[in-house]
Amino acid sequence: MTQRPFIIDCDTGTDDAIALMAAFGCPEIKVRAVTSVNGNVREEYTSANNLNLMEYLGIDVEVSRGATLPFYPRGNYYGTTHGRTGLGDVDLPDAQHSSFSKDMAPEVIRRIAAEENGELELLVVGPMTNIAIALSLYPQLKEQIKHIWFMGGAVKGGNVTSTAEFNIWVDPVAAKIVTESGIPLTMVGLDVTEKAVLGRKEEKELREYGSKASVLTADILEYMFKRCQGGGEDALMHDALALAAAVIPECLTCKETFLDVECRGEYTAGHTVTDLRGRMGKKPNASVAVELSLDIFKDWLVECIKRCGKA
Ligand code: RIB
Ligand code: CA
Repeated sequence: MTQRPFIIDCDTGTDDAIALMAAFGCPEIKVRAVTSVNGNVREEYTSANNLNLMEYLGIDVEVSRGATLPFYPRGNYYGTTHGRTGLGDVDLPDAQHSSFSKDMAPEVIRRIAAEENGELELLVVGPMTNIAIALSLYPQLKEQIKHIWFMGGAVKGGNVTSTAEFNIWVDPVAAKIVTESGIPLTMVGLDVTEKAVLGRKEEKELREYGSKASVLTADILEYMFKRCQGGGEDALMHDALALAAAVIPECLTCKETFLDVECRGEYTAGHTVTDLRGRMGKKPNASVAVELSLDIFKDWLVECIKRCGKA
């Protein structure tokens, strides 16, 4: 099987970490680099989480730092959803033998896109600042990136405001640059990710499996369960579902639609505008996930995590 080359751009975070472990347990893909962006927590933490996680799992992959701020200031949006450092109450050992790439995220994207000669795909599961900077610096990427699979937005609803999802809300300008790039896009938004919940059954199975990745995932799930009991978000696998869209598309129903991002509204900036009914007279530029087969997704995710570290 020819492995599909990917870069994963993430604001690691609890669900990002689980998506990363799943990605390294997917035989279909080869992760060429993990690039870090600020979002759930400051970039100093998201990048450290990425580096520490890779070393903890014994995975040799390029890890780069990235954007510390969105294109226009959004104030302090670092909530408590992912805990102080981004991995909830899980403390990974600091990396001792690994170091960050000499290149920042946009340069890593440029270099690997050129190396992969039109086959590179991006999994984007945080604010899109790095991607937009890369596209702005290197317009050739519009022809070199094969597909962008992203967790973000929603046809209906939001989790920051009633109309905006976090990844897009943090940097709507960056998201607009990406949606206007012409690169094939698949949007995996809250419409489906808010149904992508793991429970005690999966936590128990992973803990009993006993690998580093499966026990770490179980520990992160435990934190998410406690968070939910305290009134916070449930164990939603937002980011892993965007990976699933790329690897097991049969778990999602997607529809082609026009997609744009509202950047200016005082209360609506960050809203993803979709046109599922085709009433706006605009050409579709994205595929948007609208339905989820939860059991297919959960079974696949657990098996990927079990394979992580044993690729
Ligand atoms: O809205 C959910 C998204 O915001 C997920 O990617 C989560 O990790 C946070 O970044
Ligand atoms: Ca994320």
